[in-house]
Amino acid sequence: MDVTQRIEQALEAALKRAEVPESPPKLAAAIRYAVFPGGARIRPRLCLAVAQACGDDQPQISDAAAVAIELMHCGSLVHDDLPAFDNAATRRGKPSVHAAHGQCEAILVGDALIVQAFEVLAVAALARPERLSGLILNLSRFSGMSHGIIAGQAWECEPAIALDAYHRQKTGSLFAAATASGAIAAGYEPQPWVILGERIGEAYQVADDIQDMLADPEAWGKPCGQDARLGRPNALRELGLDGAVARLKDLLKNAIDSIPACPGAAELRNTILAQSSRFLPEELARRAA
Ligand code: IPE
Ligand code: IPE
Ligand code: MG
Ligand code: MG
Repeated sequence: MDVTQRIEQALEAALKRAEVPESPPKLAAAIRYAVFPGGARIRPRLCLAVAQACGDDQPQISDAAAVAIELMHCGSLVHDDLPAFDNAATRRGKPSVHAAHGQCEAILVGDALIVQAFEVLAVAALARPERLSGLILNLSRFSGMSHGIIAGQAWECEPAIALDAYHRQKTGSLFAAATASGAIAAGYEPQPWVILGERIGEAYQVADDIQDMLADPEAWGKPCGQDARLGRPNALRELGLDGAVARLKDLLKNAIDSIPACPGAAELRNTILAQSSRFLPEELARRAA
């Protein structure tokens, strides 16, 4: 089974498990709308790539780790698009969850996906309970208030924000959760894998900032110009195109250089190089070069 199929099947199974006859049908439909069809699925891909590089000795736990990260990500997008945050009417080329299902459902969809991420881990790790607390700690740490997505989003309510801390927390953190949980799922220590995820995530956010100013919103599937409109730090605005692209490349180099010793290190390196070469669409990459 290829990795795309593996991720989609595992996500489908996770959603099915929660869709019991007692579930409120409008909420169940809105959750499905938030998860399918997906976007890049880059975080679960990264999680599985690390698990595979570490031997992937418990594939059902790796699948759960990947699904938990993607559910957390989808939930964070639903909340991010709400009028109180970025007030975005589109996401993944269709109306955002609150635009299609209303704000009450959207708040609950985000909440439900966060809770479900932890449930998925708990269910799958029954086979190797000694890996569960690491997976839970890892996901909470990189999602929560200390330096997770919530911290990143919360900087938007503070009077001043530094670009690098903002990027590291709002985006780098969940990528760090992805690499670290791929390692834990395969029985490896998480800490050596944190920098890899964090740097890839920061690079991914630099690419997102560039597209926020230069992409075609139709092709991108979500609104452009959000950072200027909302007064948010943006790598392209702060560093210029050459500076932002140089930063993106530097972050990716740091990421690649940090790959810890493991049986599949060479293949992992190639996978990351291939995936990161698509962070900027071809036309923008050409312009930047
Ligand atoms: C969007 O993430 C939020 C950012 C961190 C830029 P993705 O670009 O991974 O969103 P989807 O899942 O592909 O829609
Ligand atoms: C990054 O924020 C993603 C989250 C922390 C949810 P953005 O607001 O820059 O992401 P997009 O551009 O809406 O996807
Ligand atoms: Mg935002
Ligand atoms: Mg946004």
